[in-house]
Amino acid sequence: MKLGVLTGGGDCPGLNPAIRAVVQRASQSGDEVIGIRNGWAGLMEIQSAPLTLADVADIISVGGTILGTSRTNPAKTEGGLERVKANIEKLGLDALIAIGGDDTLGVANKLYKMGVKTVGISKTMDNDINGADYCIGFETAVEIATEAIDRLHTTARSHSRVIVCEVMGREAGWVATMAGLAGGADYIVIPEVPTSIDKVVAHLKQRRESGKNYSIIVVSEAADVEGLGELNVERKDAFGHVRLDKRGLGESLAEEIEKRTKLETRATVLGHIQRGGSPSAFDRVLGTRLGVTAVDLVHKGDFGKLPVLHNGHIAIMELAEAVAKNQKVDMDLYHAAEVFFS
Ligand code: F6P
Repeated sequence: MKLGVLTGGGDCPGLNPAIRAVVQRASQSGDEVIGIRNGWAGLMEIQSAPLTLADVADIISVGGTILGTSRTNPAKTEGGLERVKANIEKLGLDALIAIGGDDTLGVANKLYKMGVKTVGISKTMDNDINGADYCIGFETAVEIATEAIDRLHTTARSHSRVIVCEVMGREAGWVATMAGLAGGADYIVIPEVPTSIDKVVAHLKQRRESGKNYSIIVVSEAADVEGLGELNVERKDAFGHVRLDKRGLGESLAEEIEKRTKLETRATVLGHIQRGGSPSAFDRVLGTRLGVTAVDLVHKGDFGKLPVLHNGHIAIMELAEAVAKNQKVDMDLYHAAEVFFS
């Protein structure tokens, strides 16, 4: 067979282990693998090259994606999906493995419905793919954010400050909740749990009155804080999503806290550091397992599906189900974190 593989959407650690596993598993059956460059952009205008075992030999520990990625959405261009389908035929691909988050997998599902033989693999540090316990990239992002929160503790304590740490998460507050819990945050603000500036300020004042000289607040970039005023939602990406890095939640929360509490306050935006660098052992293993299983699905002719880690095992899901809604933070998890700040 001739298999295409692409990575779309935001990069994250663990993509290369998945690509490596796809090539290894496919080569065992004598399949040829074609690497598509830069996500769907590489199928709008063909950008591709054969991917060999030599190409993937040393990439298990390397962050990012050797294939490149983009947020190109063929569904947003008139005739874009048809063009992608035609280019898949032109390349002679028998199947396409699309590694991505909800946007990329959504396009893979649309193509599947148009008769293209697609299989997905879920990656996103946001961890918001429906039905997946862990998506590729999430665990590494949590490790990075936790280490950053640990470091913020020592500087906040030394200066008797409040520090607001903004982490990524477009639809759900998974990284904020997990890293906030692991890093001992004094308040965690996520989109799933409504809060207000009054509530945050009251909590900070109560901490100061009880003798705590500093506080760490972890905020998920997409959260809303009642009473905070307008944030910047003008800038959009290629999928039409608000550029949350420009929204400025962390900065404006820090300013308002300082104004209302008179406590010296700083904001730190972790940004793309959470998506960079070497994948954790967990993400290497997860990427490998999902890559191997994706090729197995192709060999079985089981298209329109994706393997996910579900209840600790690799399960097979429909692409349509995976993209039907975003997976929100498990409230049991949030309540465990909340014990330390409610
Ligand atoms: O891939 C998801 C994500 O990490 C979001 O959490 C974040 O809002 C977005 O990507 C940032 O995207 P970009 O790298 O395009 O600025």
